[in-house]
Amino acid sequence: MSIKVTNKNKRFVLNTKNTTYAFEVFKGHYLIHNYYGRTKQRFQGVKPRSLSFGAYEAQYGKRYSPDAHSMEISFYGSGDFRDTSLRICGKDGTGVTDFRYKSFRIFEGRHKIDGLPCARPDADSETLEIHLRDKLSGCDLYLYYTVFPESDVISRHMVIENNGKHTVRIDRCRPIELCLERGDLDMITLWGAWNNESNYQRVPLHHGVQSVGSRRGASSHQYNPFMAICEHSATEEKGEAYGFNFVYSGSFQNSVELDGKNRTKVQMGLCPDDFAYTLEVGERFESPEAVMTYSPSGLGQMTRNFHNFVRKNIMPAVSHKPHPVVLNTWEACYFNIDEQKLLQFAKKGAEMGFDMLVMDDGWFGERHNDKAGLGDWYENREKFPNGLAAFVREVKKQGIQFGIWVEPEMVNPNSELYRAHPDWALHVAGREPLLSRNQLVLDMSRDDVIEYLMNIFDKTFDGVDLDYFKWDMNRHLSNVGSALLPPERQGEVSFRHIKGVYRLLDWFTKRFPNAVIETCSGGGGRYDLGMMQYGIQIWTSDNTNPYRRTMIQSGAITAYPALTMSCHVSNPKEDMRSLDYRYKVALEGMLGYELNILEMSDEINAEISRQIAEYRTLEHVMREGDFFRLAAPEKETYSAYYYATPDRSELLLTLVEKKDCKAGTSKPLKLKAAKQDAVYTDVFSGERYTGKELASGLTLSLTGEADSAKLLYLKENQ
Ligand code: GLA
Repeated sequence: MSIKVTNKNKRFVLNTKNTTYAFEVFKGHYLIHNYYGRTKQRFQGVKPRSLSFGAYEAQYGKRYSPDAHSMEISFYGSGDFRDTSLRICGKDGTGVTDFRYKSFRIFEGRHKIDGLPCARPDADSETLEIHLRDKLSGCDLYLYYTVFPESDVISRHMVIENNGKHTVRIDRCRPIELCLERGDLDMITLWGAWNNESNYQRVPLHHGVQSVGSRRGASSHQYNPFMAICEHSATEEKGEAYGFNFVYSGSFQNSVELDGKNRTKVQMGLCPDDFAYTLEVGERFESPEAVMTYSPSGLGQMTRNFHNFVRKNIMPAVSHKPHPVVLNTWEACYFNIDEQKLLQFAKKGAEMGFDMLVMDDGWFGERHNDKAGLGDWYENREKFPNGLAAFVREVKKQGIQFGIWVEPEMVNPNSELYRAHPDWALHVAGREPLLSRNQLVLDMSRDDVIEYLMNIFDKTFDGVDLDYFKWDMNRHLSNVGSALLPPERQGEVSFRHIKGVYRLLDWFTKRFPNAVIETCSGGGGRYDLGMMQYGIQIWTSDNTNPYRRTMIQSGAITAYPALTMSCHVSNPKEDMRSLDYRYKVALEGMLGYELNILEMSDEINAEISRQIAEYRTLEHVMREGDFFRLAAPEKETYSAYYYATPDRSELLLTLVEKKDCKAGTSKPLKLKAAKQDAVYTDVFSGERYTGKELASGLTLSLTGEADSAKLLYLKENQ
């Protein structure tokens, strides 16, 4: 049993394989956090504690004030003066609520969230439901904690029901609140921009609230929803670390408050700037899910906990099959595509050993550049005179699978769709809508828009033998207003919009069950656990420059496993060394190519074929293996890491020199996951190593030359 109730039903103890999380009901109604850390049996109960200027109930006295304690959840205006998780505005207009504990329930499996993706439970997952009630507004609050024992993850989300007599509005909703009685911690986040996502940042907490988030209606390139806090001294292998993430693809806000008493409060939830949700009497609201993990043994274990969890509980089953090595047309042709050219790509691609040809942007409507055509999802007959179905049949005859690019959430003003339905784009009546990449965002909160999209894709792709969609999203949401919702509900548009996106994605997976999805948002603009439930991988970044990619991938791998990461080799400029380097950089994730094979030399193409064949022998190690970081490119002049298969019989070590790397030797690279008593042989060089040698450290030579990378594929001798 992973969830226990002790102390006469007053303390809830949630156990994963290696961690324990506990909180108690205090004085019959407050929920106060006791502990989150390595597995533990005994806890200190809540101790009375005074805090000057604390606000308290007369009957309990000043030693029981919400501000003085580690609240499991806090409500605006009810005595916790730190950032609070929930603000609901009722008839009195104050925004003050005070939810009190009523009851609990423990059940097997999990509560599914209405219209939102959520983690699949393990066979032994259990869920704790805590019921609270705010008497005055008549609202009921249900907190859900689901335990994922194997990966040491616990998730939280909440449901609010208006069972009162008046309409209320939810103004703030953060499913994770974690109070820690210490402040000597660092915060780790991933920041960036388009073409430069997932930069790893680690900074000491300072007093005040530090926060990252997105107001873009997408999780965004700017800040990823992943966040961690750890001890100042924590390394990959040592020290305490807590990781957090949000199973949601829209606007979010993560915040960490270090208060005047040196205590830390972590919160994760919806972005309040982009969210205000009205609940009429009898209505309910279900929040997205947020997840957390704890590692007593460094950041590496936190990373592996999340990797296990994402692979097992988030990604669809199909993502565990070998991912296709794709040849994508974007960087090879941009919009300049047609049937003849693509058939040449298909023929040559098949000869070279590619699994799949992916036709990127430019195949539909009047889409000859990025100024027109989005929304008109039917094939352009000048480019495909025989129609899509016949074209794809021809492609398949060459012996290669076929994937296609779509961007369903968008519309160009210069399109038939927009001319027919201008009010189907998000807009604010009376204001000129803002363009981004010459396009507007469709109002996915509207059922008629979703149904239009289902119909048009249903027709256009009927009888077309598709194996893959690249699902893009090339701008963020501004002028967020919906023509259908009344003024008091406009604050819901962004949230309803993302539910519409999920609905359409879900429909695609059911309507085209033989096709897998790669999601993308101008690269990593929606690299999140919500999107990961629908696709086999995500296009990590539009930046395929190997030096930048090394940094981007190093950030992304901190939170997300290799199988989520789509990595393409592009533009090696007829340089074998550069091709080798780009390939080895791409081997951190799932390999693909995006270059013009029709114009490459035979040598380059032969080398690409060799790489594809080699990659097939390695792919399972990245896809299902455990990741160990040895040298972080943020700190060193090179990046070094390895993957180890679960049984540790195969290890794949990569060392990538950055531009500023000097000739010399690396620090000892300790492959501690190697079996101590085994002997391994490097498949590439034939060199033998004992497990002990690997664990005590390999020192590799650094060339200091441009585009240098090394790969050791160590297999246990049988
Ligand atoms: C985005 C994607 C690219 C490509 C283009 C097509 O930028 O990230 O890979 O698909 O759109 O317009």
